[in-house]
Amino acid sequence: MLPASLSAYPSAILCLLLAASADPRPLRDIIKAFDIHQTPLLSNPLVNMPSDETVSTGVIISDVIGKTQAIAIFSGLTRDIDPVSGRLDDASQNATVLAPNNNAMKNLKRKPWEDPGDYNTFGAEAYKGQDGEDRAHKNLRRFVERHIVPESPWEEGKKFKTLDGNEVWWESKDGKKKIQPADVEVTSIADKVANGEVWVLDAITLVNMHYESGDLSICFTCGTQFDAPLSSPPKNCPICDDPRQYVPPTGQAWTSLNNEASTSSQRNEFITDPHDPRIHYITTTPTAPSKTNMPAGLSDATTITKQLGIGERAILLQTEHGNVLWDLVAWLDDGTKDFIKAKGGLKAIVISHPHFWTTHLEWARCFGCPVYLQECDKEWLQREDKNNVRTLVTQPTYTILPGVTLIRAGGHFPGSSFLHWSDKPSKPGKLFIADTMMSVPSGFYHADRLPGTTSFSFMWAYPNMIPLPPDAVLGIWKSIKDFDFEESYGGFMGQNVRRKDLKVKVLESAKIFLRRSGHEKAAIYEETV
Ligand SMILES: *[C@@H]1O[C@H](CO)[C@@H](O)[C@H](O)[C@H]1NC(C)=O
Ligand SMILES: [Zn+2]
Ligand SMILES: [Zn+2]
Repeated sequence: MLPASLSAYPSAILCLLLAASADPRPLRDIIKAFDIHQTPLLSNPLVNMPSDETVSTGVIISDVIGKTQAIAIFSGLTRDIDPVSGRLDDASQNATVLAPNNNAMKNLKRKPWEDPGDYNTFGAEAYKGQDGEDRAHKNLRRFVERHIVPESPWEEGKKFKTLDGNEVWWESKDGKKKIQPADVEVTSIADKVANGEVWVLDAITLVNMHYESGDLSICFTCGTQFDAPLSSPPKNCPICDDPRQYVPPTGQAWTSLNNEASTSSQRNEFITDPHDPRIHYITTTPTAPSKTNMPAGLSDATTITKQLGIGERAILLQTEHGNVLWDLVAWLDDGTKDFIKAKGGLKAIVISHPHFWTTHLEWARCFGCPVYLQECDKEWLQREDKNNVRTLVTQPTYTILPGVTLIRAGGHFPGSSFLHWSDKPSKPGKLFIADTMMSVPSGFYHADRLPGTTSFSFMWAYPNMIPLPPDAVLGIWKSIKDFDFEESYGGFMGQNVRRKDLKVKVLESAKIFLRRSGHEKAAIYEETV
């Protein structure tokens, strides 16, 4: 049904309306539609705002959505996507359409048919030719479907998945309707009809609804990535609020992988182990490091001069059965992708504990591999795994690849883990220890030592120095008691300990640790290697 006043509309809108049931428009016509001009009268959305009682009976969304000039660009797109136009044309299926106004559509950082991934893969010609058209339409479909909530009337606070599968709800804030979690303002309601409503979205905040994972908020202190865009980051970081981490005196700060300030201030370094060329360390460093000598926490004067995240290392292991990345840093740039791809890519990412989970979904997607985390720590997950790349391990030991075993030890976190790598059963292995136990300065003197020297510490909280109780220390020891190892690799650069009696040193350190903490009767004193 065409509105009677159509002749008063610019011809571009006429084209949009006439496209209703035909084949999808070619991309060049869609691009042209973005040049639409807004007339001052109709650009005031309140003109079309019906009062709460007005529901036009017998009229459905497809009849009215083309009438509001302020949303003409978006309503044109709804007609290009068959499942969407079909739905809006179906009197028996209700929907709330979240229609961005024309300004919002024009001001999007990326056009709705664009996906940065396509440019990465296909270059500047990503949307040329038939394949390009198909890609553009696929992206347009996702864009439009993100704006259709399959419910109306839609109650405040009620969560629904849009047609593209994103969960949304709305809240009243300062007398305004805001679509959550992106916090996008609804400026008016253009129509209320028999099968739903058309809500108009604000130009400035719309961009929050359209972000890629590279735009997601990352906590600068710990490197954890959250399911909220940097334009509206979470209120706080639960990892840093926990006593095992800290918020620096300068306060909670956020960035994202796409954020300009980060891309110019962070880079990753790659160092191959001088004793074993199959082991490579990846660390993040600020391009302009801070010169302060302050201790951790106090030295975080600015986020630009600090590395993104805690400062840990990811360790690439080139095993005979494929590459494993043990632990992770948040920063992932082209240099890192190239480095790892040149080493043969990844079969698996395995992470010791939540402090190093960081941006693991980004890494898993980039390298097309699974990521292994401990199920018992899942309360610390901050992102939904939409592509099913996470494996949450429940077994005490788990074979990642032949010779590569994930060992749950507990203590620092319930799922705090070791990774044991032994390429030949006859040879003692390597133990990757992260924060599950901590190499301490006295342990790096690789000489014969008198009894009574210590090599490791066992803390619940490292930066805040809260020790573990005797049963947790015993649990850590027991988890590795049946494994052989002569080398240990800590969570940070330099923390490698190599010695024939390393296992003896672990047990000795555990006994010293508990005795000096005043635990005279702990069961660990009965243990032998
Ligand atoms: C569809 O929307 C109309 C108009 O608001 C309403 O009267 C009706 O109850 C809705 N139907 C369903 C199934 O929600
Ligand atoms: Zn944090
Ligand atoms: Zn930790």
